[in-house]
Amino acid sequence: MGDITVRGGIPLHGKLYVQGSKNAALPILAAAILHDGISVIHNCPHILDVENTVQILLEMGCSVEWHGSSLKIFAGTIQNTEISSEYAAQMRSSVIFLGSLLGRMGNAALPLPGGCTIGKRPIDLHLDSLKRMGARIEEEKEILFAEAQNIHGADIRLRFPSVGTTENIILAAVLAEGTTRIFNAAKEPEIIELCRFLKEKGADIRGEGTACIVIEGVKKLKDSEFVLMSDRIVAGTYLMACMSAGGMISLERAPVCQMAAQFKILESMGAQLQIEKDKIVMSAPERPRALRAVATQPYPGFPTDLQSQLLAVLCRARGKSRIIENIFEDRYQIVPQLKKMGAQIDTAGQEAWITGTQCLHGTEVRACELRGGAALMIAGVGAAGKTTVKDSHFIFRGYEDICGDLRNLGAVIETN
Ligand code: EPZ
Repeated sequence: MGDITVRGGIPLHGKLYVQGSKNAALPILAAAILHDGISVIHNCPHILDVENTVQILLEMGCSVEWHGSSLKIFAGTIQNTEISSEYAAQMRSSVIFLGSLLGRMGNAALPLPGGCTIGKRPIDLHLDSLKRMGARIEEEKEILFAEAQNIHGADIRLRFPSVGTTENIILAAVLAEGTTRIFNAAKEPEIIELCRFLKEKGADIRGEGTACIVIEGVKKLKDSEFVLMSDRIVAGTYLMACMSAGGMISLERAPVCQMAAQFKILESMGAQLQIEKDKIVMSAPERPRALRAVATQPYPGFPTDLQSQLLAVLCRARGKSRIIENIFEDRYQIVPQLKKMGAQIDTAGQEAWITGTQCLHGTEVRACELRGGAALMIAGVGAAGKTTVKDSHFIFRGYEDICGDLRNLGAVIETN
């Protein structure tokens, strides 16, 4: 995957079907090893992070087969509980295997997840929580060794509603002795989806989607078939692309009930939305209105994973906008790249101030992480001339076919 070149100035028109959710698929694939049998997951996106996670499952001794967009996992025997750094180091989300390996096997070893460009991303909450459930965790030469004779239930209060930590606790608790209660749990839809998957396999969980989740350990899970929900961030990314380029698009199989905060922001910028069951029709204004202040928040607030895409849109807005990024400490990596396109942005700490200009101009820019890379493509469709996004491989970690999808909406995109 080399560069992506986007020709700007063409309003988008057409219909797209939204892919399966990356951030639901990853914990669900980790959850599959809690059952020594079969899990079939339909509507699984073919993206790099899923492919990497499949490699980790294969490395453990699972058998995994793709059938179109369905993944069939057989986790009868787990021969290896040491995750090699090759795959795990590329993906922070591999830390999610701590909970499921401890839950199934009582031990795990995996590389200390590296930081990444959007922030330090410590895992102290994960480790403290699993220790409260009886795990002993040591770090040696950047490898985490975890071991628990018997994982047991515990009361765990999170200082921050961490998505990954909530997922790790759930995975460790499903087969544990006794009751686990998570206070100040994350409420993201991806948590609800993970619990739906586990409950269909026989897990005893209640309260998902609220700040207090209770898990009663069970002895065994069962075979299941599951249809994964769509990706609310991918859906939002395409709506932002249309806000940037103008036009009118329709998204089908969209997780409409998870997108209220996004719709509010889009309408504030002048979008006209028609929302039906799982369908969104959006007509973009010729030029977006500026936003006095938008703060990213844990769900159900405006998602941090759409902040870069919104930033790219506001570069063209009529007036001055302000963004406050409350989740990650370093999520303005694309600002220098947008400035190369003529954007007027100042940042200080968690805040960004944007003075909208009529039109950005295309040039060569460089992606440095997933959502920032998608945001550069969004800036490109709304800019004059050609924008070449280098290091575009980051984008394919989360988007199944962003080039094909945007072409289906009329964008002129070349890859090389
Ligand atoms: C998940 O990351 C998502 N990733 C992220 O999406 C998303 O941005 C994030 O949740 C917030 O919604 C996946 O689901 C694979 P957190 P996660 O734990 O679990 C701090 C994308 O683009 N924290 O809720 O890592 C952390 O540093 C990705 O799809 C600790 O301090 O997010 C951050 O500031 C990017 N200690 C905040 O909490 C910990 O032990 C939120 O992190 C854990 C987290």
